[in-house]
Amino acid sequence: MGNKILVTGGTGFIGSHTVVELYNAGYTPVIVDDLSNSSIKILDQIEKIIGNKPEFHQFDLCDEAKTADFINSNPDIKGIIHFAAFKAVGESVQKPLEYYRNNFFSLINLLTSYKGKNINFVFSSSCTVYGQPDVLPVTEEAPVKKAESPYGNTKQIAEEILAETAAVSKNYNIVALRYFNPVGAHKSALIGELPIGIPQNLIPFVTQTAIGKREKITVFGDDYNTPDGSCVRDYIHVVDLAKAHVAAIKRMEEGKSSDNYEVFNIGTGKGTTVLEIINAFEKSTGEKLNYTIGPRRAGDIEKVYGDVTKSAEALGWRAELNVDDMMKSAWEWEKYINENPF
Ligand code: UD1
Repeated sequence: MGNKILVTGGTGFIGSHTVVELYNAGYTPVIVDDLSNSSIKILDQIEKIIGNKPEFHQFDLCDEAKTADFINSNPDIKGIIHFAAFKAVGESVQKPLEYYRNNFFSLINLLTSYKGKNINFVFSSSCTVYGQPDVLPVTEEAPVKKAESPYGNTKQIAEEILAETAAVSKNYNIVALRYFNPVGAHKSALIGELPIGIPQNLIPFVTQTAIGKREKITVFGDDYNTPDGSCVRDYIHVVDLAKAHVAAIKRMEEGKSSDNYEVFNIGTGKGTTVLEIINAFEKSTGEKLNYTIGPRRAGDIEKVYGDVTKSAEALGWRAELNVDDMMKSAWEWEKYINENPF
């Protein structure tokens, strides 16, 4: 088997898909997760897809001694993909200290454990760092705007921590991936997004409404300056996103990085409105969606989609799956979890 890659948060939504794609690319993924926002059953689901159960360790990366001990006793780990973090925007406003503590302590503990040792490190960042960009599609050179929430701030500050660390310590080889809106599920329908409680994000709300868990979905505003008045986002299939992580690890392993801290947009480069998403869902699944138009959601960005030239050129990676693929796979997953509750 190929190099061992540590996937923190590997039982989560993007983490689990990345474990599968790492394995498909010949790597040996090792998962650390505290299961605070995921289910241990995801390991069995991954096993059903790849044919064996990945190595798994349950602990909290905020525990400095445990993290250091784990890293020291696993010198064969050649790369880290760090997903483990809190990610709910609204919750972060209510619990800022929990967000800063969890998202920073884990990152700092991981980096500190590799002091003086060579490591390839991929960080999960977000297009949230751009706020409402002045120019679209937004490039990596666009200014970072003041964060709207503690969650967004953890991503911005984490990028600064990584850039400043890489600048003085060449043993760290770091790539930050700025994701646009990850949606969809694996084609097997065995892994996908598992929202706890009422989903905050669009696609789980769409699929839960279609299956009858929610009565209706509200489109947050139709009076924006967009083609049909609803907000525009760059939705990216989670399997394409997972493959971008593999490409980032490969780039660093092959010594192709132009700097030991690089940032890439990971999206499709294409904007889609909320109403277009609803339309695509209905068309590609044949399901009727009960929706109404409601007021704008506070703090929402009108439109954002990424310029993906840099990631295509540097990573040799491009999103391959379209909005229909995203909707169909998300729907198959919703039906699966309805019949096989976690
Ligand atoms: C949100 C976060 C962002 C985070 C991203 C992760 C906010 C302000 N931003 O982005 O920081 O990185 O999730 O995926 O929360 N919508 C509806 N009805 C609904 C739900 C959503 O119309 O019931 C619309 C929203 O107005 C938005 C689009 O769907 O235009 C996507 O919303 P969402 O999935 O919450 O993602 P973002 O707002 O892009």
